[in-house]
Amino acid sequence: MTSPQRRGTSPQRRILVTGGAGYIGSTTSLLLLDSGYDVVVVDNLSRGRRENVDPARLRVVDMLDTEQLACVMKEKPCDAVIHFGAYIAVGESMKIPEVYFRNNLAGSLSLLAAMLETGIRNIVFSSTAAVYGMPACVPIVETEPYAPLSVYGESKVMVEKLLDWFDQIHGMRSICLRYFNACGADPQGRTGEDHDPETHLIPLLFRAIQTGKPMTIFGDDYDTPDGTCIRDYIHVTDLAQAHIAAVESLFAGGPSRRFNVGTGQGFSVKEVLQTVEEVTGKKVPYTMGPRRDGDAPLLVADSTRLREDLGWRPEYSDLHTIVKTAWAWANR
Ligand SMILES: NC(=O)c1ccc[n+]([C@@H]2O[C@H](COP(=O)([O-])OP(=O)(O)OC[C@H]3O[C@@H](n4cnc5c(N)ncnc54)[C@H](O)[C@@H]3O)[C@@H](O)[C@H]2O)c1
Repeated sequence: MTSPQRRGTSPQRRILVTGGAGYIGSTTSLLLLDSGYDVVVVDNLSRGRRENVDPARLRVVDMLDTEQLACVMKEKPCDAVIHFGAYIAVGESMKIPEVYFRNNLAGSLSLLAAMLETGIRNIVFSSTAAVYGMPACVPIVETEPYAPLSVYGESKVMVEKLLDWFDQIHGMRSICLRYFNACGADPQGRTGEDHDPETHLIPLLFRAIQTGKPMTIFGDDYDTPDGTCIRDYIHVTDLAQAHIAAVESLFAGGPSRRFNVGTGQGFSVKEVLQTVEEVTGKKVPYTMGPRRDGDAPLLVADSTRLREDLGWRPEYSDLHTIVKTAWAWANR
């Protein structure tokens, strides 16, 4: 890995993190700081939390406000942007597509315009496995065609395409990281998952334990060994490390790339539930519901490209560590 020293007179590289008050953005910001980078966070706090960010680093700005973004970039000149800022709920995106396209697509375009104006030419973008929809081949490789099944997934495809054009026309280099299921919490307990609305499995299982209200599992008649959907769970710290590897590859002059970020191992909903019961020592109350539209039975990443090209290795993504760190966070 290259060091975070700049080549110019300034001693430290600075990264602008959009959505840095959210779950993955705040965890990545801490790891960037741990690795010696300077960080400035842009977040409108629509979904994130003020307490997730050091107040001295936070600029409360909406990404749709290009002028304000450019002001922040001029006030705090940055070497790269890591772009997490987005709305993330697949179901919600199918009810209010206009809100999702505006925030995720127009918000990204506004960010790119501010970057062009201020001369920033490196960006790492939070993409998603949702760009693949129901993939024909699993484990999924990056060459699998785009086939999103939701407005959320489509908004991410559109931003990936914007980034291709901005590279071709403006020389803006980008790395799109297509995350599978982000989960777990910072092992030091500094950050963790706490979405509102929460749609992710592990925090919902905890919530069922804590409230005694049964959670619904959507479908147990899929063509999988126990009938429930299988996903690839990636610890947020490993995900954050992938961002650091990505930004460093851009600083080293590497080209625009797309990478899957997952472990290559899938766990069913029932297996995750069982691990939650083992780690917490508590029963999870649940009921079985029908399948949800658009849920693929099996989504598992082939992350060979990320491992081979950027030397990334997941360290915290065994299911027990994921659940243990998340449970510690849920009981903070
Ligand atoms: N959590 C996952 O499993 C997962 C999986 C794949 C991709 N992603 C992507 O990772 C990114 C981060 O996800 P997360 O789980 O941390 O979500 P999050 O909701 O915790 O964080 C998103 C942050 O973006 C901010 N934001 C949203 N719109 C904004 C705007 N217009 N201007 C400024 N700030 C804005 C929110 O306030 C929030 O702090 C998202 O882009 C998401 O699509 C997440």
